Amino acid sequence: MKSMTVVGNWKMHTTPQEARILLRDILRGLTHLREIHGSGPWPRVLVAPPFTSLAACQETLRDDEFAETVWAVHLAGQDVFWEAEGAYTGAISAPMLLASGCRAVVVGHSERRRIFRETDEEAVLKARAALQAGLDVFFCVGEGEDQREAGETFAVLRRQLEPLWERLPAGAQGKLAIAYEPVWAIGTGRAARPEDAEEAAQFIREDARRHGWEGDLPVLYGGSVTPENAGSFFRLPSIHGALVGGASLKAASFLGILEAAWKAAEGSL
Ligand code: PGA
Repeated sequence: MKSMTVVGNWKMHTTPQEARILLRDILRGLTHLREIHGSGPWPRVLVAPPFTSLAACQETLRDDEFAETVWAVHLAGQDVFWEAEGAYTGAISAPMLLASGCRAVVVGHSERRRIFRETDEEAVLKARAALQAGLDVFFCVGEGEDQREAGETFAVLRRQLEPLWERLPAGAQGKLAIAYEPVWAIGTGRAARPEDAEEAAQFIREDARRHGWEGDLPVLYGGSVTPENAGSFFRLPSIHGALVGGASLKAASFLGILEAAWKAAEGSL
């Protein structure tokens, strides 16, 4: 049995009203899954709505109608700035995320790196600030297609992770997970081959150990995860869940992935 985590990254989707409906549908589905799987080990479930929908989600998670399942779902931010407050137009800080009901934050997503030109160093500053503030961090790494074809996957992962290991604050154990997301697999419908994901996850865990990480480091896979292929990743010894984009925007597909995680957690996959 292994502990499993599934994070739904809603990206720039959902108005507050849409977020409320989606989250309610997920909670309703979880009630049903709970009936099937009983009180066995639950996967850890997080959703990362846009900042503007956090309040609506926080309200939904207080709804008595879902009292049986709300405790199992947590909110995450999609990004965070490293300063706590100040003249940083458009930025959101870790204390603000915490005050908006978030337990965790996604840091260094490849869309942030690629489209918003975020550097390896900036991603690490964000992770560090979030961990110090008490948030859990899902730190994203992954190679581009050209880099994979050139055999540079491990070099890229090492480069993205090196500054993280160097600057991790004390107390990060148990609060940090790495999301291995090959850039070419995100939103393309072309998921990585499970054996490649396993190899990358093993590399990441070894790299962490080489840098003094003690204990377990969960690694999630991300990139075109669907209810159909989720099990092939969750079965792998070094993969502890998934960061899900597109398939997290429909309750039915997200729940299908959660069900696979549930089976992996209880050892029945
Ligand atoms: P995808 O996105 O599931 O739509 O490929 C994954 C992600 O960006 O985290």
